[in-house]
Amino acid sequence: MGKIFTKSMARNIFHGSSAFFILLFLVLTFDTSIALPERDHRENITEQVAKGKTVWEINNCIGCHTLLGEGAYYAPELGNVYKRFGNNKEAIKGFIKSRSKNGMPGRRSMPQFNFTEEELDALAEFLKWTSEINTANWPPNIQG
Ligand code: HEC
Repeated sequence: MGKIFTKSMARNIFHGSSAFFILLFLVLTFDTSIALPERDHRENITEQVAKGKTVWEINNCIGCHTLLGEGAYYAPELGNVYKRFGNNKEAIKGFIKSRSKNGMPGRRSMPQFNFTEEELDALAEFLKWTSEINTANWPPNIQG
């Protein structure tokens, strides 16, 4: 009456579920590789956006800020700063331009970088492009 769980049954379950999960892994990997190019809208990476990224890297903005969660937690998240500033590139440029040389006494603050207008434009373009990446609504609030 009682059925016995044989070695060959165990082997079948092992092989069957291994095959299932390997297949699932491959399908999801394929799905991600199809979905990502649409989400990061790479067709909109203009020369200015690329230059903005260079300025961003040379000046180590990520040493204080996060960009989509990556970076340092000293200063605000900037992945959505374009939206936070009312979809306004001039507001971003104005903020970066107006930092005081010696910081603000008694509080952490952002340094003055003395960027050229061209560098500011490029940075603002880069931050605009970043804010338009489809991150499935992350971060969940506009403060970042
Ligand atoms: C030494 C640390 C530091 C570095 C490096 C730094 N920042 Fe900041 N940043 C801050 C701090 C602190 C704030 C918070 C506001 C303040 O200064 O009053 C800030 C605020 C900002 C804001 C406004 C964010 C908001 O939500 O109000 C922008 C835009 C910004 N930084 C851009 C940049 C860019 C672009 C770079 C690189 C060129 C950069 N930051 C490098 C410290 C830094």
